[in-house]
Amino acid sequence: MTIPKETLWELEPHTKAKHEILGRYLAAWFPILSTYNKRIVYIDGFSGPGRYKKGEKGSPLIALDVAVSHLKPIGGEVVFWFIEENEDRIKHLRQELASRTVPSHFKIISDSGKFHEKFGEVLKSIDTGKNTLAPTFAFIDPFGFSGIPFSLIERLMKYERCEAFITFMADAMNRFLEHPEDKLVQHIVDAFGTNEAVLIAKGSGDRVAKLRELYQSRLQQAAKYVRYFEMHDRLNHPQYYLFFATNHELGHLKMKEAMWKVDPDGDFRFSDATNPNQLVLFETNTTSMLIEQLRKEFCGKGQITGFAVRTFVEDKTAFLKKHMTAALKQEEDAAKVLVDPLKTDGKKRRVNSYPDEAKLTWV
Ligand SMILES: C[S@@+](CC[C@H](N)C(=O)[O-])C[C@H]1O[C@@H](n2cnc3c(N)ncnc32)[C@H](O)[C@@H]1O
Repeated sequence: MTIPKETLWELEPHTKAKHEILGRYLAAWFPILSTYNKRIVYIDGFSGPGRYKKGEKGSPLIALDVAVSHLKPIGGEVVFWFIEENEDRIKHLRQELASRTVPSHFKIISDSGKFHEKFGEVLKSIDTGKNTLAPTFAFIDPFGFSGIPFSLIERLMKYERCEAFITFMADAMNRFLEHPEDKLVQHIVDAFGTNEAVLIAKGSGDRVAKLRELYQSRLQQAAKYVRYFEMHDRLNHPQYYLFFATNHELGHLKMKEAMWKVDPDGDFRFSDATNPNQLVLFETNTTSMLIEQLRKEFCGKGQITGFAVRTFVEDKTAFLKKHMTAALKQEEDAAKVLVDPLKTDGKKRRVNSYPDEAKLTWV
C-alpha cells in the first residue's frame, strides 16, 4: 500500500470494510457504556481529515454520526478526541466538525500532533493521580508502524473498560525489519515493546505470520480478550490486520457481532485469524468449521454442559451463539452429540434448544 501524500485520498475497499466494522461496533459500544458511566471517551489517535476524496466519511465523522443518530439517546458525556499530526488534514477535519451540530453533552477535541505524545501526556497525568481515565475506546489507525508504542496500549488496557482497535501493518514491518536506519527499526521495537520482533528477521519461516503472532501474544499479556482480523484486497492478498483488545466479554461479543454483520461486497475479504489454524472467512458456510472446533475441544470429555459450550464459543472462537445452536443441531441430528432429555436443573429440555443447563456428550 502506498502512503497518500495529499490531504484527502481515495477510499479503498478494505478501508470501507474497516469503517463498517468500526461503525457497527460503536453503535453497540456507545449506548452500553454510556448507560453505566457518566463519561465515556472515543479516541481516534490517527484521525485523518474526516473525509475521503469522493466525499465519503472518515472515521471521525463515522463515530460522531453513530453517536448522534443512535435510536437510543446516548446519555452522559461523550468525549471525542481526535489527534492528527498533518496540519492540512487536521484543518480539514476541523472544518468538517465546525459544520456539524452535536448535542451539548458531546465534547469534541481536535488536537494537532502525534498520538503517542498527546495520549502519553494524558496517561502521565492520570498515573500521577491528577485525573482518571473514563471508559475509553481507542482507535489506532496509522498508515505504517511508527508512533504506536506498545507501552501506551499496555497502560491503556490497565484501566477498567478500556479497549483498543488497532491497524497493524505486519507486512510493512517485515519490509523494514532489517533497515539500516536504526530509528526506523526502533519504531518496530517500540510497537512490540520488545526487540523479539527484530530477532524474527534472523530466523527462517513466514516472518509476517511470526510478527502477527508476536503482536497477538503481546496483546494477550495486556488484555483478556484479543481478536484479530485479516483484511485482504480483491485478489485475496492480505493487506493488514485489525487487532481488537478488551478486558470485557461483552465488548468481545459485540465486536464479533459487528464482524458477522459486515456485508462483503466482493471488493474486499476479511477473516477472523485469531486462531491461525482456523481462518474464519465471514462469508462462507462456517457451521462445519465450528463443529470441527467443538469436536476438538469436547470429544472424549464425557458429559458437559451447554454453559461450557457457550462460553467456549463466545470467548475462544470467532463464532456467536446462533452459530453454536446451528452446529449443535447438526451434530445432534447426525447422532454425534447426545443430549440428555433432562437439564441440570431437573427440568425437561426443549427439542433443538441448547441452553446453559443442557447436558451434552460428544460420541
Ligand atoms: C490511515 S490514516 C487515518 C484514517 C482515518 N482513521 C480514517 O479511518 O478515516 C492515518 C492518519 O494518521 C496521520 N498520522 C501519521 N502519523 C501520526 C501520528 N504519529 N499521530 C497522529 N496522526 C498521525 C496521517 O497524517 C493520516 O492522516
